[in-house]
Amino acid sequence: MSSTQDLDYPQILFQYNNGFLVSKIMFTACELGVFDLLLESEGPLSSDAIAERLGTSASGMERLLDACVGLKLLGVEMKSEGAFYRNTELSNLYLTKSSPKSQYHNLMYYSKTIYLCWHYLTDAVRDGKNQYERAFGVSSKDLFGALYRSEEEMIKFMYGLNAIWSICGRDVIAAFDLSAFTVIYDLGGDFFKDPIPEADLYILARILHDWADDKCMQLLAKIHKACKPGGGVLLVETLLNEDKTGPIETQLYSMNMLVQAEGKERTPTEYSKLLTAADFREIQVKKTGKLYDAILGRK
Ligand SMILES: C[S@@+](CC[C@H](N)C(=O)[O-])C[C@H]1O[C@@H](n2cnc3c(N)ncnc32)[C@H](O)[C@@H]1O
Repeated sequence: MSSTQDLDYPQILFQYNNGFLVSKIMFTACELGVFDLLLESEGPLSSDAIAERLGTSASGMERLLDACVGLKLLGVEMKSEGAFYRNTELSNLYLTKSSPKSQYHNLMYYSKTIYLCWHYLTDAVRDGKNQYERAFGVSSKDLFGALYRSEEEMIKFMYGLNAIWSICGRDVIAAFDLSAFTVIYDLGGDFFKDPIPEADLYILARILHDWADDKCMQLLAKIHKACKPGGGVLLVETLLNEDKTGPIETQLYSMNMLVQAEGKERTPTEYSKLLTAADFREIQVKKTGKLYDAILGRK
């Protein structure tokens, strides 16, 4: 398609405009249990049967199911009695609760928490800070409050993180030969306040992106002090291109850090600078080709 045609009919703008409608259709079908029901059912089901089993209106469910067919999240068979819906392979694998690769909790965290925060994206850009107070009307004293409002929400958040990890974790851990490190510490909890135990390797998975540079340096310096000589630190983060032109998923996550947290997504050079400032050396970066990448620094 030439650029003139693009301007005559700006299809890409329509797609962007409708982006959140697409997300909401997928979230709603997940939340109502459409994919779970179709996984459990013996065969394809009619829209009326699905509506009855899930306790929804027949008219709303029919439209939701048809939209899911349009999005290739469901398949449909036309029989003499009408339309019968079934899951696609993609939905069976990722959108049902019981699948080992289920993204259900991640989607629900997006739908129930992130979606509300993004209502205030314009304010976040204006203010340069997260919009937790505007979105939830509660003061967030620290980042714990911004990521989850209650213990229940924290558990949903953790399940959501695990859901993505079930797809990307293996590649990240295989990125470097870690066999030389015997005592490995996966950093969590309140590492700014609590002492950090001595170890050969510290894993900081999706931690530094939550924080501004000064906090990252504070944490890395604390880890460097606790780290055994010859030990190291493994950062697991989604990396921006050096010129920040992409990848788009990472750019979106960086916007989300603005709306919801205190940090941002960074380039390999930016992470290397943070590690160097904390006295880590021999920094190596491995891109996995998936969402999360790995950076190793040595003491
Ligand atoms: C995005 S999660 C990453 C969890 C885990 N490493 C993973 O990859 O699934 C960020 C973690 O930072 C920890 N953390 C430490 N101090 C925090 C604070 N003040 N606010 C929020 N999270 C904090 C929490 O334990 C939380 O699990």
